[in-house]
Amino acid sequence: MSTLGLAPPPSDLLATDAMPVLGDAEFAALARIMQSDARIHLPPAKKTLVHSRLSRRVRDNGLDSFRAYVALVERNAEERRLMVTALTTNHTHFFRENHHFEHFRATVLPRLQARPADRPIRIWSAGCSTGEEVYSIAMTLLGPTLAESRWTQGRDIRLLATDLSQPVVETTRRGCYGASAVEPIPEPYRKAWMVKDEAGYRVGDALRKLVTARVLNLFEPWPLTHQYDAIFCRNVMIYFDDPAKAELEARLVDQLAPDGFLYIGHSERLIGTAAERMRACGQTIYRPRDAA
Ligand SMILES: C[S@@+](CC[C@H](N)C(=O)[O-])C[C@H]1O[C@@H](n2cnc3c(N)ncnc32)[C@H](O)[C@@H]1O
Repeated sequence: MSTLGLAPPPSDLLATDAMPVLGDAEFAALARIMQSDARIHLPPAKKTLVHSRLSRRVRDNGLDSFRAYVALVERNAEERRLMVTALTTNHTHFFRENHHFEHFRATVLPRLQARPADRPIRIWSAGCSTGEEVYSIAMTLLGPTLAESRWTQGRDIRLLATDLSQPVVETTRRGCYGASAVEPIPEPYRKAWMVKDEAGYRVGDALRKLVTARVLNLFEPWPLTHQYDAIFCRNVMIYFDDPAKAELEARLVDQLAPDGFLYIGHSERLIGTAAERMRACGQTIYRPRDAA
């Protein structure tokens, strides 16, 4: 018995479950890869997180040290992609930062409804994670009832959802969520647009038809042919350093329609040329300076 009166775990469990040690040099090498591939900045304070998220990948590859893992990642593009994915943070929920959806409903929606019916509507959830953000936008666009969604019929409306991480993009495509995940969805929206099944809820056809989900690294070229009426890039830039933020924000502003709206996360702010070209029109909501 140990001094705490607890039986120690069997020694073979200790051996197989032992976490490989992450040295400073290996952490620095992994942080360099994250910076170069995803522009995600990993300060030394993130060492524990990196250790816990990657220990399993070290073991699953049959390796016994982070040194060997760094060597693997440096020569194997697929493992490198899996590593970057494992180090992304995908926390999200339906109607997160609800004031953005309130603003969209009160300000953007009437403008979209009032425009000529043949003008396309394009909205982008950039860094969509598992899809709750894009489906919250889609529900807000459709409104709380079938009758209120009639204005969308016959219009060319597309919501694009993109993320660096393939597993979260696949979850967005599946559109299946547990009962607790759908709790933040206001009841009328949930009743109108989500379908209850044995496993929980799935997005109904009306939502699914509006949304296209794609893997896209925001620091690679964007194969986008439209300017966007609204871009939601929320709680993504917190992981980048200032040069990366400034570069991405400038590109988001370029991709926005002249009368479009940009939504960013509550702890984010515009810097560089984006700050010069945009003006705030709500809490972390921006429009081009010369927009009417
Ligand atoms: C915390 S989630 C935010 C999800 C959602 N926008 C929200 O606010 O709830 C951040 C997402 O950004 C994605 N991400 C991080 N770096 C990225 C990059 N370079 N390109 C594309 N997506 C990235 C991550 O994979 C993650 O799913």
